Amino acid sequence: MCGIVGVVQKPSKADDLPLEVCLSGLKRLEYRGYDSAGIALAGAPHFTAGADFSNTGTIPGIKVQVRKKSGRLENLRTEIAAHPTFPASVAIAHTRWATHGKPTDSNAHPHTSNDARIALIHNGIIENASQIREDLEAEGVFFTSMTDTEVAVHLLRKELAEIEKNAHSLSQGEGGVSKTTGLEQGEGFPPPKYALTEAMRRVAKRFKGTFTLLAIDAVYPEVVVGARHDSPLVIGFGAEANYLGSDVAAFVDHTDQAAVVEQDQLVTLTADGAFIEDFDGNAQEVKCFTVSWDASAASKGGYKTFMEKEIREEPRAVADTLLGRMDERGLLKLDDVKVEPPAFESAMREISKIVVVACGTAAYAGHVAKYAVEHWCRIPVEIELAHEFRYRDPIVDARTLVVSISQSGETMDTLMAVRYAKEQGARTISICNTQGATIARESDAVIYTHAGPEVAVASTKAFVAQITAAYLLGLYLAQIRHNKFKDEVDEILHELHEIPDKIQLLVDHFDAILELAKELQDTKSVLFLGRHMGYPIALEGALKLKELAYIHAEGFAAGELKHGPIALIEEGQPVFVILPALSRSELHAKVISNIQEVRARGARVFSIAEEGDLEAKAQSSVVFERPQCPSLFAPLLDVIPLQIFAYALASSKGLDVDQPRNLAKSVTVE
Ligand code: M6R
Repeated sequence: MCGIVGVVQKPSKADDLPLEVCLSGLKRLEYRGYDSAGIALAGAPHFTAGADFSNTGTIPGIKVQVRKKSGRLENLRTEIAAHPTFPASVAIAHTRWATHGKPTDSNAHPHTSNDARIALIHNGIIENASQIREDLEAEGVFFTSMTDTEVAVHLLRKELAEIEKNAHSLSQGEGGVSKTTGLEQGEGFPPPKYALTEAMRRVAKRFKGTFTLLAIDAVYPEVVVGARHDSPLVIGFGAEANYLGSDVAAFVDHTDQAAVVEQDQLVTLTADGAFIEDFDGNAQEVKCFTVSWDASAASKGGYKTFMEKEIREEPRAVADTLLGRMDERGLLKLDDVKVEPPAFESAMREISKIVVVACGTAAYAGHVAKYAVEHWCRIPVEIELAHEFRYRDPIVDARTLVVSISQSGETMDTLMAVRYAKEQGARTISICNTQGATIARESDAVIYTHAGPEVAVASTKAFVAQITAAYLLGLYLAQIRHNKFKDEVDEILHELHEIPDKIQLLVDHFDAILELAKELQDTKSVLFLGRHMGYPIALEGALKLKELAYIHAEGFAAGELKHGPIALIEEGQPVFVILPALSRSELHAKVISNIQEVRARGARVFSIAEEGDLEAKAQSSVVFERPQCPSLFAPLLDVIPLQIFAYALASSKGLDVDQPRNLAKSVTVE
């Protein structure tokens, strides 16, 4: 977890731009963690001549200046207002999701070397930190935090001192010639190999675990150096500055030109461009891409919360995910296939089973899709929580297709499951919402969901987009494996294209559900029941309520009721029930019986049922009507009232729906 931002002014000068860029970047990255926030700035004396530093206690050109505070970003802003920072040419900033050490001011990043020359931020977990800490303490290094991160800054300072003892800086071009970024590079690029880069390389090679590290050096305030191992890092190339971030959201306000720092690579970012090398010092190509999100898509767009905005964007998310899926022959295609198409297609024909690996809401999306994919393709589909997958010796081979589903594309549990699957020889396809994310890059092929940036921690529009993408994958496989003729695939796609308008009808219940939630504001527990595809939707409804409203919520397969959960029902217990289509008469009758069973024991029933379902109306306190649609697509509609309900109940309790307690949007630790 944790969000990181780095910035280098272009051309090098000192003012407040680095501060402003970092604060706006942190705001966009707060979804990655919000336990504390901090910033470090540096600017050489000749950049800042005439500035008044009497209040800062910092000597520009020798020491970095740091401001950090526990709690939300607002606390950091208040701290900066009380103790303003000096003009700077470079900066790094961090928003934290605590792993090692409580969310306190001293544990907040950036961390600094004992002489305050170097500042460093970190995303990930350094697993061998304790031993390194002991060694450094024995050498007289003074620690100020309980974090694993702090060892990195002290080790970096030690390596820097070692390198500088031998030579003030290393000679130019030692690591080879940089490929250009594709953008205009200033004169003198690639940069001299900074001692800080070399020190970072040595440090990165010593660590076990996961990390993205960024560091600045007060003596050379014209460069940010980064290292990446199993945590994400992207570069942005702008007109006023160059940037680094955990993802493009960090700098999407300033530029749409980006590049990815790959696994086990170092980046040296200056005003002139980015120089990338691997951990052995070999220069690497900087591959640019254009970010398709714009800044307005990542802001609230007039709504009070990101979550409301994102729920209201669900029809668009599904419609956009369906766009541009056909090749010139009118056949479905995947994105970003990294294997030669004939070989890839023949491998897909040989697949004997599919395993979906994902976590949380993304896993429920896989669970929903299982019903459709098995029905269309006649391939068994297993759903595995990604964190369980590789620890249970799963049966996976070259005929297994492992499908990972991840909004962020950076969830560590899911990434590790994908890597494990590849080691076992499995084929891998990812469903991902974030261009250039690690999981997408490491999979044989991708289907990008086009939900746009999802900022609220609770996943909503990404969920429906993931289900849609999984349907597309099912239809692609059915087409490749000749389970379905082209006209049959076209017919199903036609019906799928009608779903966004139907979702809109459910989103239109938004205000009515807000009212209902006010009534239920004091409830301590809510149960959710569903059968068939309604079952994973019941699980998702319960997850949403837990994470947002902090109350007991559980989803059950309705048939399971009589095997235990019915004991929970008491007078007034709210129960949400998802009913199948009337045309599924046998299943429908069973769910109606389940409603009768809970009502007989005092439950208050809220149903999601097909329009015209008179029995559901007769048996429920409230019915949310679902327009008619093919049964396999009903989950895309059924989930909407449940998401809104969770949002509404949490809002009525005065809770922060965008950033619920203890959670982070992107879980990049195992
Ligand atoms: O980024 P991912 O889709 O891989 O995230 C997976 C889960 O952490 C995520 O869906 C989580 O369960 C959501 N907070 C649920 O709303």
